[in-house]
Amino acid sequence: MSAAILQLGCGGAALAAAVVWMMLAVRSVASPPKGGGVLPRTVRRLPLVAVTVLLLGRVAATVALGRASEAFAVDRVWGLALSAMLTVAALVGVATASPAAGALAGGAALAAVGELVFTLVIGAPVPLWAGIAVVVAVLAGTAAWANATLHRGRRPLALTAVVGTLAVTAAVTVGWVGTTVPGSLADEGFQAHEHGTTQAREEQGTPVVELVGDVDAAAPRVSVRLIAKQDKISLASGETLSAWTFGELGGPAITATVGDVLDVRLDNVDIAGGVTAHWHGYPVPAASDGVAGVTQDAVVPGASFQTAFALDRAGTYWYHTHQVGSEGVARGLYGTLVVLPAEGSAEDVDVVLPLHTFGRAVVFGADTHAQHTPAAPGQTVRARIVNTDQLPQRFTVSGAVFRVLAIDGAPVETDELEDVAIEIPAGGRFDLGFTMGGSAVAVRPEASRSAAIVFGQASDEAPLSTSPARTFDPLTEVIGSTPPDESAAALIAAAASSGRFDAEATYVLDRLPRLVNGIPQYAYTVNGAAYPHIPSTVVAEGDVVRLTVVNRGFETHPMHPHGHTVRVLSVDGQPPAAPLWLDTFDVGPGQVWEVAFVADNPGIWMDHCHNLQHAALGMVLHIAYRGITTPFMRGGHASNAPE
Ligand code: C2O
Ligand code: CU
Repeated sequence: MSAAILQLGCGGAALAAAVVWMMLAVRSVASPPKGGGVLPRTVRRLPLVAVTVLLLGRVAATVALGRASEAFAVDRVWGLALSAMLTVAALVGVATASPAAGALAGGAALAAVGELVFTLVIGAPVPLWAGIAVVVAVLAGTAAWANATLHRGRRPLALTAVVGTLAVTAAVTVGWVGTTVPGSLADEGFQAHEHGTTQAREEQGTPVVELVGDVDAAAPRVSVRLIAKQDKISLASGETLSAWTFGELGGPAITATVGDVLDVRLDNVDIAGGVTAHWHGYPVPAASDGVAGVTQDAVVPGASFQTAFALDRAGTYWYHTHQVGSEGVARGLYGTLVVLPAEGSAEDVDVVLPLHTFGRAVVFGADTHAQHTPAAPGQTVRARIVNTDQLPQRFTVSGAVFRVLAIDGAPVETDELEDVAIEIPAGGRFDLGFTMGGSAVAVRPEASRSAAIVFGQASDEAPLSTSPARTFDPLTEVIGSTPPDESAAALIAAAASSGRFDAEATYVLDRLPRLVNGIPQYAYTVNGAAYPHIPSTVVAEGDVVRLTVVNRGFETHPMHPHGHTVRVLSVDGQPPAAPLWLDTFDVGPGQVWEVAFVADNPGIWMDHCHNLQHAALGMVLHIAYRGITTPFMRGGHASNAPE
């Protein structure tokens, strides 16, 4: 059974147990366990059977969850230990008709509520003091109830309600405050954490701005000017869009060749909140990463920013603002970056097709409607699809069998595919390839009824859209791949076979009540905390790093580490059929992903959920190289707010 369902089952069972115990407690107060009731004995026993079954069910589910990942179970173990104790005590109390039975039943109810507090408020990992706080609150509530029952007549209900509420409130507060205690975790600006010591910003080291990479003065230059502004766009189909752009819809579409140097100048005309350009998936030197508050200040209206980096890797990439990204990217501050191999494109027709949703308008390519791309019979086509949205998007190909040629810029091999939908994570890219037959071929996003790219002769009729029953699975259907970097691939292969990594980190993704920028939110958390309070993963240059990402939530999280490409080691313990190299991977509800990368690009890099709404609500942390510092901070005069 999937971890997500087991988690739901566990929560439901705890809630049910709390209700049944509460009813028993209330009834024992109303008619203390002495004389028999009107109900036959077996019926009166039913609730006791129910709570026992519910407890055993929770134990079994927790064991199964623990096998999938400790992170699914650790909070439940705390809560269950408490529940088991009070459940047994209450059952004994009822069986022996003890005068304390009612109070113990109330205690068992509180313990079940405590389980929910562990899961819904504290999460994993459980800080020791938070665990103790909940245990103490439940035991104190039980004691108060017992005291009221045994010594002060039968008015315990009001008291219990008060104590219970206090207990839950205390735990909630503890959970919130826990992630905002100064000094215990990362604070404003940037501080790398390691063994309880912090690398203060003032500490000696290499500032991230000095990490500019090697730029060969003699290399051919591709110069791009990004002019960030509020825009009105008239689509060919007649629709108009209000957007923020880097000069045009889909930014300037940048095409360059391996060996070129990309020279970028970014000007901000009138984006009041500021803007940056981040090169999604591209292994840029850290100073070019374009993250406000980490690698630069946000570019305010009237200001500009210049950077240059060598293009040494071919593939499909994209760029977008990383200042208030959840708003800026959504409004249109993005563009595409295609780096062709030195020999040029291998296909006759090579197009880049960003998908972006503006409110209700789904723009695919350059329009919300069908667009024609000339392609003659026998010609080969490469369609580079870029998902610039916040959710995964599905695409179909009709009129041809096709293959996936690359994922996130890295070449892959697949069998010929037909009647299969392609699902691309938020921020991800898939290159699809096919050969033109005698008739037109259409690539369509499932999110739109009208948008399509129709390849063929002008007179060709577009093929009917299809709705494939099956979705392409990169984990099983990629049968070969070319690593973006051979030496990194060799290091990871060696570490994977020996099981020895130089650095490891586990990211437990969850939804918990936390303070985000000082405001109580139902936050998207990593290891129980929200940005900027999530400790950075600290690595040294040359480390082979393993990240384990556990999704305890019920939404998909497209995780995206900057500056590095990861190799997927396993998903739910299952290794992929062929090495998969990704920079954005969808961790589904209840999934556990293990990925590895080589720390070969010094810097301070973001690693975050690319559903930028989730990022804005906390799901952001850093991968920080030892010895690298930054002069920038969140807030400040440029109001830096990367997420
Ligand atoms: Cu497209 Cu921080 O990412
Ligand atoms: Cu997310």
